[in-house]
Amino acid sequence: MDTFTCIRTRREIREYLDKPIGDESLLRLLEAGRLAPSSKNSQPWQFVVIRNKETLNKIASLTPTGAHIAKALLAIAILMDGAKLPEIDGTRAIQNMVLAAWELGIGACWVTNFYEDAVKDLLGAPQRMKLVTVIPFGYPKEPKTKRNKMRKPLEEIVSYERLGEHSPK
Ligand SMILES: Cc1cc2nc3c(=O)[nH]c(=O)nc-3n(C[C@H](O)[C@H](O)[C@H](O)COP(=O)(O)O)c2cc1C
Repeated sequence: MDTFTCIRTRREIREYLDKPIGDESLLRLLEAGRLAPSSKNSQPWQFVVIRNKETLNKIASLTPTGAHIAKALLAIAILMDGAKLPEIDGTRAIQNMVLAAWELGIGACWVTNFYEDAVKDLLGAPQRMKLVTVIPFGYPKEPKTKRNKMRKPLEEIVSYERLGEHSPK
């Protein structure tokens, strides 16, 4: 799958098959994260792979918007240590992971709104670290083509030279 097709077709997936992600595929996701760029190449991340069902269920209960974590067989927590720009660096790694996953036919869906301190405690992470997300991964239950991708048209979000100038000069 070429990069643009991957970007164009990828959807957030919240329902997963009961089919485990193999070690080779998992390694590829982690490599994709590892290879991400970061501010001053500081690579301030730690990736915690979570496959314990009890832990997944517990984490799902520690966010009001992440019930789908409990439906996955695997999730990855992205923790940042000493990062100047934790959300930005972390998000670059996550986007690499989710695109690499999609190429392998694996879906994911970001979760926010964690009770962060409790999740960090559960994962044995020190409180100084920033939890960017715990993102569940799994083979999609639904056909990829089922939902349309709803995005604003380019004309609404692109300007040329000055904001609001929607036609190229
Ligand atoms: C920063 C960020 C936070 C998000 N938080 C949640 C969340 O807490 N729960 C959830 O179900 N989806 C969450 N999403 C998923 C978005 O709702 C999703 O990306 C958007 O609806 C587009 O989905 P699509 O690519 O399938 O069209 C989040 C996405 C991003 C980028």
